[in-house]
Amino acid sequence: MDAIAERYQRFARAEAAGRSVLYETLAKHVAESPDSLTFLSRLPQDRQQPNLLFAALRLIAGTPASVREFDHALEEHANAIAEVMLTRTTQTNEPGRCAALLPAQARIEGPLAVIEVGASAGLCLLPDAYGYDWGRQSLAPPARSDSAATLFQCNASEDTPLPVRHPEIVWRSGLDLNPLDVTNEEDVAWLETLVWPEHYERLARLRKAVGIARTERPRVVAGDLRQDLQALIAEAPGDATVVVFHTAVLSYVADQVERDEFAAEMIGDARVKWLSNEGPRIFPQFTEAAGPVREDMFLLAVNGQPMAWTGPHGQEIRWI
Ligand SMILES: C[S@@+](CC[C@H](N)C(=O)[O-])C[C@H]1O[C@@H](n2cnc3c(N)ncnc32)[C@H](O)[C@@H]1O
Repeated sequence: MDAIAERYQRFARAEAAGRSVLYETLAKHVAESPDSLTFLSRLPQDRQQPNLLFAALRLIAGTPASVREFDHALEEHANAIAEVMLTRTTQTNEPGRCAALLPAQARIEGPLAVIEVGASAGLCLLPDAYGYDWGRQSLAPPARSDSAATLFQCNASEDTPLPVRHPEIVWRSGLDLNPLDVTNEEDVAWLETLVWPEHYERLARLRKAVGIARTERPRVVAGDLRQDLQALIAEAPGDATVVVFHTAVLSYVADQVERDEFAAEMIGDARVKWLSNEGPRIFPQFTEAAGPVREDMFLLAVNGQPMAWTGPHGQEIRWI
């Protein structure tokens, strides 16, 4: 119980503070609530995360306006909330990350065959379907027959090389332990609930991207990045540059040795350009070469070379 309480205190302090008043308040409350801690202690350790609890509760009972409402919902719907926490995982799909990835992707000579590992519903597999506003330069979204065209905002540093056109992507595929389906209402409801409560812009962006993905239907196959990636690379057309990328995924591979094996496999594959956009502790060896560490940012690296610090939701890019 103490360890769970500490985890929720840490979440309140390091993750929710300044980003979500509600999640910060709820996390502090859970850390001091014997009933909530008892509920969590009955779940497996890897199912006790704050993000998972809060999303499951909101899915079942709606967003609580106060800790009283939270307590009431947890008491009333304990079994249903536990069921969601046992069957779902935190698969937040943030298409806004495309705005921070594109400056690096667009520098790679095309045509491109793009593979995203840990793709969730595949919304980051469609960088050529969105528009971008980087402050000093923008890239209009491709014309669409529906009303889903969208422009992602991203604050780019002066020296970030910004693309003037979308990359030519001739083939794309995602790989995920549990691909989510944008045409499945329950999957979409889960994706929406994973967006933090006060993040209205992100929710609007997600809904637009889901609308686009329902037309574009990016393929995401079921599999593990540690075993199933080579088969996918072998499927890519021979005359395209294969780009393997991931964002907010490698933290789920808990073993550093396995992460490093994956990195070595990517860097050693002459056919592949590898883009990693992850927290600074995921590949400390690349972070070391990136100058002063930005704990609140992701490090974007190409074949292990640090390229930029990026906002975790794609809201910012600082070229190195
Ligand atoms: C936080 S989500 C990020 C989704 C997407 N990359 C984005 O940035 O919007 C992490 C995803 O990685 C997937 N994942 C975790 N471990 C994986 C593995 N070993 N192989 C394939 N996918 C994995 C999860 O299922 C989940 O969908």
